[in-house]
Amino acid sequence: MAVFTMRLLKFLPLLMFLGISANAQSPTFGLGRTPTAGEIEAWDIAISPTGDELPVGSGTANQGSELYLSKGCAGCHGTTGAGGLAPRLIKRDVGEVDDPWQYGRVLPIRSPFATTVWDFINRGMPLGQEGTLTPDEVYSITAYLFFLNDVIEDDLMVLDEVSLPQIQMPNRDNWAQVPDWFPGQPRLQGYPY
Ligand code: HEC
Repeated sequence: MAVFTMRLLKFLPLLMFLGISANAQSPTFGLGRTPTAGEIEAWDIAISPTGDELPVGSGTANQGSELYLSKGCAGCHGTTGAGGLAPRLIKRDVGEVDDPWQYGRVLPIRSPFATTVWDFINRGMPLGQEGTLTPDEVYSITAYLFFLNDVIEDDLMVLDEVSLPQIQMPNRDNWAQVPDWFPGQPRLQGYPY
């Protein structure tokens, strides 16, 4: 018993140190700080598949075709949506196909949700001048890319915060169904390949 107490005393400073430092730190890793409401708001711009977060605004493909040129998209992606240094934005000309993946991997046709295309352009384009497009401009350019890819047929169709989420993307049900992940589950368990 005495030996045990002696051993414990030997480690007491270490135990005290661990105890004190654990209390001083956050419950998880003891790093960083809680972001302010303003910081969270500045980052919280992602648009979900339902489009609930979409700002009010509207635009047509017709308007988007001009913006595509004036906002510099054509300079990188090509005037027709292909042939530039940046990735092509129009589907491959393969005629009618059963599997929409054969149109290629371009975002305005591969994305399962129309809102994701809006979100990508709003946050990420034009490359180097991200965040400069107004909501109306993003609705218009998104409509134009859908029109080029035959996702919508009418270049005067008004896309806004209500109509955009209702667009049925051709690849909507053509993605692998990955099961919900829960903490501790090995990655990709139950994945088809
Ligand atoms: C300075 C060059 C440049 C300009 C200007 C530019 N882009 Fe891009 N764009 C890129 C590059 C490079 C990528 C690929 C990078 C990536 O996907 O992260 C890309 C990716 C994209 C994608 C995703 C392509 C895919 O299939 O994954 C879309 C959609 C897109 N741009 C639309 C636009 C629109 C709309 C504009 C004009 C408002 C624009 N871009 C202006 C360079 C540019």
